[in-house]
Amino acid sequence: MSRLDIIIFGATGFTGRRIVPRLHEILKKEYLNLTWGIAGRSKNKLKEVLIEAEQKTGDKLDEIEIIEADINNESSLKSMTSKTKLLINTVGPFRFYGEQVVQACLSTGTHHLDVAGEPQFMEEIQYKYHKIAMEKGIYLISACGMDSIPADMGVIHLQNNFDGTLNSIDSYHYGVEENGPHPGPELNYATWISAVYGVGKAKELTELRKKLFAKRLPKCLPPPQKRSTIHKNEEINRWCIPFPAADRAVLSRTQRYFYEENQQRPIHIRCYWGFEELSSILKSAAVAPLFMAFCKTEPTRKLLVKYPGFFSGGAFTTGGPSEEKMENTLFYVKLDAEGWAEKPEKDVCKDFDKAPDKKMVVRVAGRNPGYGITSTTVSLAAITVLTEQDKMPNKGGCYPPGYAFAKTSLIERLNRNELKFEIVSKL
Ligand SMILES: NC(=O)c1ccc[n+]([C@@H]2O[C@H](COP(=O)([O-])OP(=O)(O)OC[C@H]3O[C@@H](n4cnc5c(N)ncnc54)[C@H](OP(=O)(O)O)[C@@H]3O)[C@@H](O)[C@H]2O)c1
Repeated sequence: MSRLDIIIFGATGFTGRRIVPRLHEILKKEYLNLTWGIAGRSKNKLKEVLIEAEQKTGDKLDEIEIIEADINNESSLKSMTSKTKLLINTVGPFRFYGEQVVQACLSTGTHHLDVAGEPQFMEEIQYKYHKIAMEKGIYLISACGMDSIPADMGVIHLQNNFDGTLNSIDSYHYGVEENGPHPGPELNYATWISAVYGVGKAKELTELRKKLFAKRLPKCLPPPQKRSTIHKNEEINRWCIPFPAADRAVLSRTQRYFYEENQQRPIHIRCYWGFEELSSILKSAAVAPLFMAFCKTEPTRKLLVKYPGFFSGGAFTTGGPSEEKMENTLFYVKLDAEGWAEKPEKDVCKDFDKAPDKKMVVRVAGRNPGYGITSTTVSLAAITVLTEQDKMPNKGGCYPPGYAFAKTSLIERLNRNELKFEIVSKL
């Protein structure tokens, strides 16, 4: 029997059940005749997901294949991955559930795309499986959701349009609630667990990076101008702090690949998060030390995991944000780039002894940041792998999305499907 093109694993989850109708809508809109199915551990729940998707899209989906697979049953995973060319994996937290699915994909020759926002998982997979994936001609691409396609592809858009030497990029993430405020949580519970363990196991990530990135990147001079940890960005009228999500880790991996494989000058990357009120930052700063301390030991982590609403001040809960809140939230990633008009032909890491003389601002904008845009980005990333492999690196391997999709038409596809990339200014 021929394989399906795509299976969505974890289709019953908060993210997965949103990808199902979105993938169907995109395939229809783009006139693509790709086959797909859904997978999870409960057939009945999966049937409900299809009924819900039929109600959303108005199309009959009763012929969509349903596959049962459980993380704790290796043969069910292999049976699932053997039925498809590409797996979209949304079963997280990925630090607990991800590796066994990657292994199943490698054993059956299946591309693996996930929506992880967990740097330790992504880098561990790269460390252990990049070479094997290259040899087998399989793509393993993490961070295909809100983390980190908008920012990573935003950097690619800058690289494609800068025309000169790009030295630094500062990304600013911020949101705007329309017709609001809309009370209630911002994100679903699974992301909270990922965050708790990410903070708690930060030392393990440091050790992993010593092995994965044993060779240091050159320090191309000059570094970008210093900024204080809390600073005001007047253009977006937001108070900003370093962005705690996965973007910086993902964007930096993309830059490392560009340097190591294409001899491109690595760009200095910094990522910030913008708040309307300084008081919001101060409130978070007041509770941050307690949160970090609780993340450090297993018994206190268990408390954090048991009471997400209480410990996150209501930002994360089981059941996630309301549809109304998600649909009324606009988000922006503004990327401020600096460099020089000059482009040295030979020395990719030439030290410039003059201040940058060229600036460009790219803005990536969309609606429904956590889950709506994730459904769009991971669906389009999957379609791109299946239709534009000839434009992807090395015929296989483990890559961040920016490096994997730099030469494909992913940005055009995203522009047609509600994630807008625009050059705001060029000086
Ligand atoms: N960084 C980003 O941009 C981004 C965006 C969205 C989501 N995410 C990540 O995606 C992951 C999922 O998030 P979510 O909010 O969708 O979580 P969720 O609602 O808890 O969904 C988890 C899914 O995993 C399935 N699952 C759990 N244990 C399983 C097992 N043993 N075998 C097979 N399937 C199993 C669940 O199936 P059942 O329904 O049967 O329980 C469900 O389908 C999280 O790691 C989250 O951080 C990241």
